[in-house]
Amino acid sequence: MRTPRGDHRTDIVDRTGGVDVIDGLDWELIAARYWDRRPVLIRLADAPERHPFRPDDVFASAVAATAANAAGEIPKHVRFAVDRDLKSRPDGWLPRAGDGSLDGYAHRLAERLAGRRYSLTVQAFHAFHPALWRRERAFYDGAFRRFGLPLSSAITTMFHGNYEHTQIGAHKDRFASFMFALQGRKRMRFWPERPWTEAVTSVLDYERYLPASFAVEVHPGEMLYWPSSYHHVGESALDETPATSVNVGLPREFTRSAFEVAEYLTEPTPESMLSEEMETAGLPPLAGPAWAPADPIDGSSVMGELPSALAQAVDFFRSGIDERSLNEWVATLSLRRWTAGGFFPSPPPAPHRALDDEATVTLPVDEPVRWHDTGAARIVAACGHTTRTTLDAHTLTRLLTALRTSRGGTRTGTLLDRLPTAAREDARHLLEDLSRFHALHHS
Ligand SMILES: [Fe+2]
Repeated sequence: MRTPRGDHRTDIVDRTGGVDVIDGLDWELIAARYWDRRPVLIRLADAPERHPFRPDDVFASAVAATAANAAGEIPKHVRFAVDRDLKSRPDGWLPRAGDGSLDGYAHRLAERLAGRRYSLTVQAFHAFHPALWRRERAFYDGAFRRFGLPLSSAITTMFHGNYEHTQIGAHKDRFASFMFALQGRKRMRFWPERPWTEAVTSVLDYERYLPASFAVEVHPGEMLYWPSSYHHVGESALDETPATSVNVGLPREFTRSAFEVAEYLTEPTPESMLSEEMETAGLPPLAGPAWAPADPIDGSSVMGELPSALAQAVDFFRSGIDERSLNEWVATLSLRRWTAGGFFPSPPPAPHRALDDEATVTLPVDEPVRWHDTGAARIVAACGHTTRTTLDAHTLTRLLTALRTSRGGTRTGTLLDRLPTAAREDARHLLEDLSRFHALHHS
């Protein structure tokens, strides 16, 4: 079978369960034939630089993402299990820099586990490593240009191990999913429609529904897409060798408007994005009692008065609707969202580092820097972060244009010399912020 487009070969191989296989990433083709319709297996070019995830980035990101929290425990966005035993303390189970690679980590664990199986799952995986985040954003840029930018973040989840701990059974998600296989083999089983009639969202024992299903085995360098409407289940590892995959979910079904509103009121963090109480994550802690005062016997209670806890909530929302601050907040969030390219929170800014005149700075050509003039100041954004500058619009434009046109990097002093003397230090601070955000590279 051939697609109408000559540059994309489509064929059917047994392990694909009959889904189309296409060579190379083409968002137009995906939009025309598969998006919100049916799964497709995408064979990416051999060159790892064309892949959204590379083994070295994934390893570095796994080390950063699994660092213990302040309580010395495995953080909430990480799950590590040996067979069915879910661990709460790191105890040397998680990847560390000394392992050198995912293979090194797998090797260390294999020696310790003596045949027992393990699984490591990391959610919010894009939030921990700037290089991984940038490549992922660049890879999906074409999708967002084609389909628009989702109002809530895409999600990224890393799976590693020789055992699937996701004991959630067959289910569906509200995301369009892209599973990228990095190492080993992964198998996903699908049902185009919900195979059961009971009022349950997932089924652990799905054997009797097998006849209506098909399974797709995904190999390294391949990416499997499936629409949010497909019920699916990840099946147990195909062999002892650990498999590594990264799943990206682009939100397709929005359940409640409140779900997205919370993100506009508060700053998401990896922790808040995984919170069970998404609507309230980041809201200020309760300042007063959660009970209304007892009703006095004489019946004198004032019906028109809010209990203090509710008054606090109303004050909080009221504080957000002062027109001037609301407009600034909308601009700030817009700038952050557009420069995050659908993946937030983005990795946090690096510690401040002074830029002297001799430092060479480079702004990659595909790194968006956007700004908004509030009148009193300019809000400047890159990589999902914002800063304010007192540079006037004209000087800011000159600085950004100079950065854009110097492909091989420019000496900081030379850049600053082109600006009015009074603007030099403010411009230096802005360059330092862009560097903290990981947008500007310097040496
Ligand atoms: Fe799922």
